[in-house]
Amino acid sequence: MKKIFSFVAIAAVLGFAGFASQANAADGKALFQTNCAACHGANATGGVGPNIQGKDAEDVTEAINKVPMMAGLKGTITKADAKAIGDYLKSLKK
Ligand code: HEC
Repeated sequence: MKKIFSFVAIAAVLGFAGFASQANAADGKALFQTNCAACHGANATGGVGPNIQGKDAEDVTEAINKVPMMAGLKGTITKADAKAIGDYLKSLKK
């Protein structure tokens, strides 16, 4: 339990200090690889979860609020993170 708390605390500090202030598609890629790729595939073409290439920030936020398997991301992915990930997902759709 203590370990989990430390991880959340570190993630929160990193989120506020770094990612939140300079959100762009490159950060979105890193955030995606860390938080989403395990279920949605390395290139967002799908795995346990569906293909999400082309989804935007709103879709990401909605999914985090609605999909039971993604509920654990609620405290991790900030609004700025969701925007960065959305920009990255849109950049994948040709
Ligand atoms: C533990 C596995 C898991 C993780 C981690 C995960 N997802 Fe998902 N996601 C799913 C599943 C399963 C669904 C499909 C749910 C359904 O259709 O009811 C889904 C659905 C979605 C959808 C909606 C797709 C659609 O077509 O409606 C989006 C957008 C999405 N995820 C984005 C993300 C993003 C961005 C991340 C990382 C921040 C992420 N997911 C992390 C499992 C996961």
